[in-house]
Amino acid sequence: MYIIKLNATESTNVYLKELFAEVALNDFTVVVANEQSKGRGQMGTVWESEPGKNLTFSVLKRFDDFMVSQQFMINVMVSMALYKHLKKLQIPDLSVKWPNDILSGHHKIAGILIENILSGDKIQSSVIGIGLNVNQMHFNNLPNVSSIKLILGKNMDLDELLSSILKSMQETFAVLNAKDPSIVNTILENYKSVLFRKDKPSTFRNENDELFMGFITDVSAEGKIIVTLEDDVKKEFGLKEIKLLY
Ligand code: BTN
Repeated sequence: MYIIKLNATESTNVYLKELFAEVALNDFTVVVANEQSKGRGQMGTVWESEPGKNLTFSVLKRFDDFMVSQQFMINVMVSMALYKHLKKLQIPDLSVKWPNDILSGHHKIAGILIENILSGDKIQSSVIGIGLNVNQMHFNNLPNVSSIKLILGKNMDLDELLSSILKSMQETFAVLNAKDPSIVNTILENYKSVLFRKDKPSTFRNENDELFMGFITDVSAEGKIIVTLEDDVKKEFGLKEIKLLY
């Protein structure tokens, strides 16, 4: 594993992608930054993180033979590696909000931004960006956000935490590399079992800004969320098509 530590950069995902476009990098090259000036979140949002307080890092995962059609499994693997690790730290009431936010109760403590580099119908590599709120105590105007310190009441060593999370991620990806469908399936089932608001009546907003009620009942192999509506009608939604309201 190679770790590049930066004091400040625009975004570790951008840094890693640009570096990889110039030089051949090994599998599991990691870029970690103390501060990001333009941290990126999902769907064009901004990832805010107080300098020096949290983990903001990106991991390059290279694949030999991984079909684009299976790309959701990368989200599942990363989410479950983080989930399991946070569980070991005894963070209470953990769940994964589809597709890959990690929550404690109703509060988001980690976000994941995966950017894939494709070659035909294969994923050649993924830049996996993780923002984990660790020691930050105040999140202005972000009511549903928290940190490990706010939850557990203690400061964490960022370097130690990073290296143990990277180890968990390597172990989880070893499963994917081994291509054992039964273990991969078990991890997918574990992911589904820890989904936020699974089987609970929930309110959603669709692309046309309309609100509707339904139950999250499943996630398809392609990573679409399956919501059961009135009269037991099941409907699949992609990331841009639906928002689960708190
Ligand atoms: C989200 O929940 O919206 C995803 C947030 C991902 C944030 C991380 S921080 C490290 C990496 N670099 C970025 O610019 N974004 C990801």
